[in-house]
Amino acid sequence: MNIHIFDSGEQLDEAAAETICGFIRAKPGAVLGLATGETPLGIYRKLAEKFREGLISFRQVTTFNLDEYVNLPEDHPESYHAYMRRHLFDHIDLPPSRAHLPCGNAADLAAECQRYDALIEEAGGIDLQMLGIGHNGHIGFNEPGRELAAGTHVVRLAPETRRANARFFGSIDEVPERAVTMGVGTILKARLILLIAKGADKADIVRRALTGPITTECPASLLQTHPRLVVLLDRAAAKALGTAG
Ligand code: PGA
Repeated sequence: MNIHIFDSGEQLDEAAAETICGFIRAKPGAVLGLATGETPLGIYRKLAEKFREGLISFRQVTTFNLDEYVNLPEDHPESYHAYMRRHLFDHIDLPPSRAHLPCGNAADLAAECQRYDALIEEAGGIDLQMLGIGHNGHIGFNEPGRELAAGTHVVRLAPETRRANARFFGSIDEVPERAVTMGVGTILKARLILLIAKGADKADIVRRALTGPITTECPASLLQTHPRLVVLLDRAAAKALGTAG
């Protein structure tokens, strides 16, 4: 595991965007796993900026997002389809046909999960997976529990996840109760994982995930087993680690 600690969120965003661009320059047809939430926003801004400046093209890239809410219309502003368009896809040259998210409105969600896994497989698996981390240690929407699923599946969101995401909706009652998420098996098969966390409120879970026991009760702790895990933290998120200085 490689941990990088940045003095500012802005420096972290720049480093993450540069890592992603460097990866694409080396492999123009790269398959990227993308995340949503607050953490990647600055990185997406930087990627759009670099595209505008002619420094990078996404023309041959394929993307797979980690998750999507169940039963939230795709044009709802808080759907991850809408989020991705607003924050990244509308600003770069990624062909829409190669930008994939699971469909949370499929009539047959089990079939949709299988379709998504098959698509990832067909694309050759994920080269670089970007991940945020939930306060409870979730990655994607793989919530803590006695067991975890390997492939794409439907989850019931943990109460703390719905509470955390209520800030994006009017109230907690409007946060969907279920989501479709990529499983930890698929995530761990990514060739390179970029785990990103910002802010003091993430310090404790970052410490548990990176230095605590490997347990399904903290899904992010499974990342300790990955051979190419790069962790990007701002000082606040790193402050519970011994290395924070
Ligand atoms: P956040 O979410 O980036 O909005 O903090 C991270 C996550 O829940 O995975």
